[in-house]
Amino acid sequence: MSRSVSVVGGGVIGLSIAWRAARSGWSVRLYDPSIGSGASWAAGGMISPLSEGWPGEERALEVGSASLDRWPEFGKELEVGAGVELFTSDSSLTVALDGADAQDLRTIAEWVVAQGRDLQILSRTEVRELEPMLARGVRLGLLAVHEMAVDNRLLLHALRQCSVAAGVEYIPRAVQSLEELDADQIVVAAGTASPSLWPGLPVRPVKGEILRLRSRPGVTPAPGRTIRGSVHGRPVYLVPRADGIVVGATQYESGNDTQVTLAGVRDLIADAEALMPAVGEYELHEVSAGLRPMTPDNLPLIGRVSDRVVVATGHGRGGILLAPITADATMALLEGSAVVEAEAADVRRFEKASMPDISRKS
Ligand code: GLY
Repeated sequence: MSRSVSVVGGGVIGLSIAWRAARSGWSVRLYDPSIGSGASWAAGGMISPLSEGWPGEERALEVGSASLDRWPEFGKELEVGAGVELFTSDSSLTVALDGADAQDLRTIAEWVVAQGRDLQILSRTEVRELEPMLARGVRLGLLAVHEMAVDNRLLLHALRQCSVAAGVEYIPRAVQSLEELDADQIVVAAGTASPSLWPGLPVRPVKGEILRLRSRPGVTPAPGRTIRGSVHGRPVYLVPRADGIVVGATQYESGNDTQVTLAGVRDLIADAEALMPAVGEYELHEVSAGLRPMTPDNLPLIGRVSDRVVVATGHGRGGILLAPITADATMALLEGSAVVEAEAADVRRFEKASMPDISRKS
């Protein structure tokens, strides 16, 4: 008889784990009242661990790079399985609009290259040749040739389709307590709801608002790759889609509030225009907000917390990026081994996570 696992949470992390577990022969139930509707639905879809790096954040670079390396195969399997095209860009370009930003880009490039990864500094002219629609004030660029982006909503669709094909059973309800579940193993992948299932997990919600722009006849073409930058200290990104551009994202610590504010939309539009002045030609198709499950050190929490429970949560701004390594690391934990590149995300680095007794129900 196959072993059973209940996965709690149907975002990109829970879906990826459920898919992989079913494919490895586990009998899988996935619990979520509304699969794929949370932060993974709101996301931009960037996969950018190198250009988001910073000296001193070696552990984040290691985990992120290990996941980036897994993305081509992970994405290809889903594309073939679901018959969709997930990738909307195969590289990313971070641009500097002032001297301080230009210095920051040089610092990132030097550090990432010293860690054995590839990032290239581009001059103002080279940036204009690559992406002529960007603002004339751009001073410098940082090109990451392997940092792709995916359509996050197609990704959720593909994961769901491939999971069903692999035998995952969906249970469309919220789990209030892990004691309700009688599977051999449980995976908590419930994003910001995870601490209510496993008290003490250091995960807090960080709100992000995001815009979806649609192309219209005759508009200036969208960039060919993900564009990132900083305007008045606020990070902003433009991620290409088959039908337009996704513009993200604000960042607020405001509890579980998911309302979209006028100020958030105003800032996103202004910051996007600072990168690409013609962005105003596009249709404002959708505004939405999601809650990133953040941890104190911005690394996820992946690890075994009891003989029946594994957690895979706290992915913050990196849920899409970190899905492949999280699925591999969680499968290794379920099978009694470990993935070395995910060690920096070990949940045990936060000792205060309490360990409620949920021995197997008979
Ligand atoms: N993944 C990008 C963001 O959270 O804004």
